[in-house]
Amino acid sequence: MSFTEEIAKRRTFAIISHPDAGKTTLTEKLLLYGGAIHLAGSIKSRKAQRHAVSDWMEIEKQRGISVTSSVLQFDYAGCRINILDTPGHQDFSEDTYRTLMAVDSAVMVLDAAKGVEAQTKKLFKVCRERRIPIFTFINKLDRYGKVPLDLLDEVEKVLGIRAYPMNFPIGTDGKYLGVYDREKNLVELFAEDTSHGQTERISEIFSPNDAEVIKRIGQNNFDALQDDLMLLDEAGEKFDLDKINAGDLTPTFFGSAMTNFGVKNFLEEYLRLAPPPAPRLSDDGIIEPTDEKFSAFVFKIQANMNPAHRDRLAFIRICSGKFERNMNVWHAPSNKLVKLSQPQQFLAQERQIIEEAFPGDIVGLFDTGIFGIGDTLTDATHKFKFEDFPIFPPEKFARVQAKDTMKRKQFAKGIEQLTQEGAIQLFYPVGAGTDSYIVGTVGTLQFEVLQYRLKSEYNVDILLTMLPFEVARWLKYEDDSKVTPATLRGADRGMFVLDRKENPVLIVENEWSLGWIGDNNPKLLMNATPFDNA
Ligand code: G4P
Repeated sequence: MSFTEEIAKRRTFAIISHPDAGKTTLTEKLLLYGGAIHLAGSIKSRKAQRHAVSDWMEIEKQRGISVTSSVLQFDYAGCRINILDTPGHQDFSEDTYRTLMAVDSAVMVLDAAKGVEAQTKKLFKVCRERRIPIFTFINKLDRYGKVPLDLLDEVEKVLGIRAYPMNFPIGTDGKYLGVYDREKNLVELFAEDTSHGQTERISEIFSPNDAEVIKRIGQNNFDALQDDLMLLDEAGEKFDLDKINAGDLTPTFFGSAMTNFGVKNFLEEYLRLAPPPAPRLSDDGIIEPTDEKFSAFVFKIQANMNPAHRDRLAFIRICSGKFERNMNVWHAPSNKLVKLSQPQQFLAQERQIIEEAFPGDIVGLFDTGIFGIGDTLTDATHKFKFEDFPIFPPEKFARVQAKDTMKRKQFAKGIEQLTQEGAIQLFYPVGAGTDSYIVGTVGTLQFEVLQYRLKSEYNVDILLTMLPFEVARWLKYEDDSKVTPATLRGADRGMFVLDRKENPVLIVENEWSLGWIGDNNPKLLMNATPFDNA
């Protein structure tokens, strides 16, 4: 297969959802249909294991589990599929957001009974900012949920993206019998699920005018379907691949991951419409995946894979050129050549050394501590840097200090190292000594990681005091002059800190406090991330 064919067949995506909407179940069903697993249930039981343990240290012991599930690769219908895990629940962290930097599209799973939920909104926003295509799977159609047309409306109103239903469910309220495929103008009716979703669901395809359809679904369902379809045709958005590619229109599918209702159709249509690896912006212009010279960036670092060896894995996304084991590449931040030995790839549930990989693929590299989040790797004869990784607005804050002040040095070193890795965001209190830091994160798991890693890698116990703040704003005046606690009215309503580049940041309790600060400081500009990162 040629280099360009290898690229064209790749689909790299993440599934985003609010906890419990069905992400794990859908992932598993995609693997089932992809032939990567033979009986559904294996991933779910691993997830159950994972969630049965409550703290991160225990999760850490089971590292093998979370690592192998961070990237899953399988083949289906001539496509090479890379699914990147975006952990939810208590695992939610900046890693979750950063993973979205490495994908070319996203699948958003909604629970038909709950519609658009909080975490989906956050993840959606990150995808939207990158303008990547977003495909929607409205799940749990096997039971009572909101009315399909209302769900489409909710997606449009709450998320601000137009929805184009690719298929439409036939039946009512959890008693759905099949779907109408709007593109193919075909009706797909499902047989009863007799295997509790463990094997592929059998279905039959009909032309909508086939007398058999009315016979099977009944006149009422048939009439209701006609009405809904007419409404969609008249008032709904038209199918438009350009809008889909620009992230302005989301192809929407109805189904049930648990009972395999509509899953195969979703997978096939997704693969047909989803984009292959996209070009990336660098300081040397656009880098096409078909450029023959290798390039990649680091989007995730997983430390402590094996506590005995303190090893870390840096996950890279290949952007151009062919990856070969043991190749030497230029590492932008250190300006050095590094050898990429022992590259790992994750096939369904196993991890293995690979010899080659292509744009769109994710490879795990053993890291001795040189890699940081967002680092660019390129061919030595074409050096450049990809765009900086965005900083995600922290929402949880804590003051941390070493329990034993004699260990201040190790403590500072550990904190700096973990910040560079992207495990936490670091702030310095203004006017205070150097024995405490303010740490910002997007999820509380990151604090557990911090505590655990400082202890296990730097032998430092920390005192961690959660702060009652949830919003950070980088500050500057309209004329670019520096904001200080003395010039800011109401600085004492929150906590005034500096980021690592000494930019002033105010951390406050809520949006209301921000409103007050804004009203009382007319020439003040506030941003949820650093101004040079906006
Ligand atoms: P998540 O990864 O997004 O958190 O969700 P997950 O797949 O774990 O699904 C959450 C719950 O919803 C699970 O139930 C799962 O079985 C159920 N579920 C997923 N898809 C469907 C569906 O299409 N229909 C229905 N009715 N339920 C669905 P659970 O009780 O938490 O776990 P389990 O006991 O079923 O394993």
